[in-house]
Amino acid sequence: MKRAIFKSHGDPAKMIEILEEKDPVPGPGEVRVRNLVMTINPADLLAIQGQYGAQPMTLPATPGVGAYGVVDALGHGVSQLKVGDAVLPVGSGLWADAVILKERMAPKAPAGCDPEQAALMRANPATAYLMLTDMVKLEAGDWIVQNAANSNVGRMVIRFAHELGLKTVNIVRRGDVAKALRSDGADIVIIDEGQDMAAAISSATSAMPKLALDAVGGSATEALGAAVMDRGTVVVYGLLSGETNQLNPRDLVFRDVKLRGFWLFDWYRTANRQKMHDLHSFLEAKLAKGILQTDIEARYPLDHVREAVAHAARDGRNGKILLKGNNDA
Ligand SMILES: NC(=O)c1ccc[n+]([C@@H]2O[C@H](COP(=O)([O-])OP(=O)(O)OC[C@H]3O[C@@H](n4cnc5c(N)ncnc54)[C@H](OP(=O)(O)O)[C@@H]3O)[C@@H](O)[C@H]2O)c1
Repeated sequence: MKRAIFKSHGDPAKMIEILEEKDPVPGPGEVRVRNLVMTINPADLLAIQGQYGAQPMTLPATPGVGAYGVVDALGHGVSQLKVGDAVLPVGSGLWADAVILKERMAPKAPAGCDPEQAALMRANPATAYLMLTDMVKLEAGDWIVQNAANSNVGRMVIRFAHELGLKTVNIVRRGDVAKALRSDGADIVIIDEGQDMAAAISSATSAMPKLALDAVGGSATEALGAAVMDRGTVVVYGLLSGETNQLNPRDLVFRDVKLRGFWLFDWYRTANRQKMHDLHSFLEAKLAKGILQTDIEARYPLDHVREAVAHAARDGRNGKILLKGNNDA
């Protein structure tokens, strides 16, 4: 079997390599899962760069936190899973043809689901939904604003916001994505051409947004801080520009604008079982209805992880990049 590893931090496309090794054998209470699909997200690239919030304790390490696979071997004492069960592995180090997981870290995939869409279900849709429901009390008719709105998270925000009756202003950096965002339910799409963004948002909406979602950082944060209503909240959840978030002190002091962060990893660390169960049931229902449908730009065999990672790091993509295990039947 093959496994992707990085031995030191740096440019993901240069650091990632493939290791060939024997199939691992599950111990007591463990299962072996053959991964069919593995996701590549900005967080994986940040982890290889050494910039993510939860770094591997030792190197070399294997990236990857989203996958869909099939159980093909059981350790002693496994009671709930059987060979052939499709699962959505939980944990890190998933960019491998086969992984060993504790049984509880291999929840069954929803019956009849599309493997690629299911592999993508847990990270970005969860982030989008929780940012809309857990950070600020929003009511139908309220406005929200977000940048990087054509990202996978951004498109999920638009769809969930539309379902919740919220109105969205969506900032993007290229016009060719506007049509897709409108078909997701976007109310306003603004192309960032260096204009006064707070003024552009204000002239496009009937009320100032209560919540702003920022994946970009730098001066983009400041524009959102100026656009939200008095006592409004800017939630930072991404580091796409790599720049330190800016905020105008006049917005902080005279308008009491709040700046907060959101990290799904931390949500999982602190949520109780019931909350997680509710979130997963919600996502599975949305997956079944096709609401989480994500565009895929390209699929690469795991052997070609270097090209896959370089592609995932490119601007102007029209969908996610996936890795495929060498396990397809
Ligand atoms: N905090 C959390 O728990 C959490 C969870 C999931 C994701 N995230 C974050 O959410 C963000 C989006 O992730 P994703 O998987 O949805 O992304 P994605 O689908 O891979 O898309 C990346 C998006 O980022 C845009 N982008 C890249 N660099 C940019 C820049 N400097 N300025 C403006 N836009 C830029 C791209 O725009 P173009 O199409 O124009 O290139 C594209 O829309 C990432 O920052 C990710 O780390 C955070």
